[in-house]
Amino acid sequence: MSTGWSLYIAVVSIFNVVACLWLLWWTARQRAPAAPKSGASSGDAPTTGHEWDGIQEFNTPLPKWWLNLFYLTIAFGFVYFALYPALGNYSGTTGWTSAQEHDQQAAQADALIQPLFRAFADKPLEQLTQDAAALRLGRSVFANHCATCHGSDAQGAKGFPNLIDGDWLWGGEPEQVLTSILDGRNGAMPGLEAVIGADKVPAVAVYVQSLAGNKADPQLAAKGKPVFATLCAACHGVDGRGNPALGAPNLTDHVWLHGGDFNSIAHSIRAGRSGQMPAHRELIGVDRARLAAAWILSQQTASAAGQGGR
Ligand code: HEC
Ligand code: HEC
Repeated sequence: MSTGWSLYIAVVSIFNVVACLWLLWWTARQRAPAAPKSGASSGDAPTTGHEWDGIQEFNTPLPKWWLNLFYLTIAFGFVYFALYPALGNYSGTTGWTSAQEHDQQAAQADALIQPLFRAFADKPLEQLTQDAAALRLGRSVFANHCATCHGSDAQGAKGFPNLIDGDWLWGGEPEQVLTSILDGRNGAMPGLEAVIGADKVPAVAVYVQSLAGNKADPQLAAKGKPVFATLCAACHGVDGRGNPALGAPNLTDHVWLHGGDFNSIAHSIRAGRSGQMPAHRELIGVDRARLAAAWILSQQTASAAGQGGR
């Protein structure tokens, strides 16, 4: 804060408190001549002249104890000014700062929580997937850090893979899943319309549909096949079953990241697709990532069990 602002804040703050003090003193001075004793008739007390339905407003001073409470709060205000950083750049005699307090509390919370996670640090991932306590923690890590993209049930959304269907872009072995989480993944497919020619895109799209066993015009599909072999097989494999080293999806199953209808497939081919899984090593640390991985691995749906990775 510049000295100008600092001075401005200090002056306004002190002025306000002093003004309160003056107001109190001033109103206390304007004593009405005689306060009515309790039980005295209303005729003895001065009134403000305001009256409504026979109810008169008295003009009696505030009780002493009440006024003294006000003086006390003002004294408290000055003490506070001295102890805490309330006046611009002045840091207060206690040296307290909100940043310091936050760091302290964060460190305390960490110290409490870290041992919880560390207890599982030495156990192999496969073992964690069977450990109820580890899975409870893993679930909460997932809810806090992953659900925004993958959904609270880990079933994903368009462009964000379902993590519990047993179908993997980058491999479903425990170590592969952990690597996806810790180091992130970058799936990128270039737009190929210019290379293929706009007129041939529908044929290739239909061929992709036929790969997944969907009804497709066999003549069109046959036209698309050679294009697939030259341009797509490098990443998606000759048979279209994908390549976990590149994150290239298996096109022969019925799991689609970006949609499996003709238009979505044609769009994938024309414009390309990309998806980024951010690296979480720095964000959540290895211990938490392993718990999240264990939870995901424990959630693979029964139908997918035994199907294995891509
Ligand atoms: C350089 C490697 C590469 C090439 C070449 C490539 N792809 Fe892809 N393709 C990918 C990757 C990686 C993805 C996943 C993108 C993502 O992570 O969002 C993908 C996604 C797709 C999808 C979407 C799949 C889904 O589940 O929604 C389709 C369809 C597709 N590719 C078809 C093709 C066809 C057809 C060709 C050839 C004309 C082709 N790809 C060429 C790497 C490639
Ligand atoms: C900002 C959004 C985002 C967040 C947050 C995020 N992910 Fe992802 N994740 C993605 C995307 C997008 C992909 C797909 C990358 C691609 O297209 O290849 C992905 C891929 C993955 C994969 C690989 C899936 C496969 O089929 O191989 C795993 C495992 C994964 N995420 C786990 C997690 C976990 C665990 C967390 C929380 C610690 C998390 N993700 C947080 C967006 C996110």
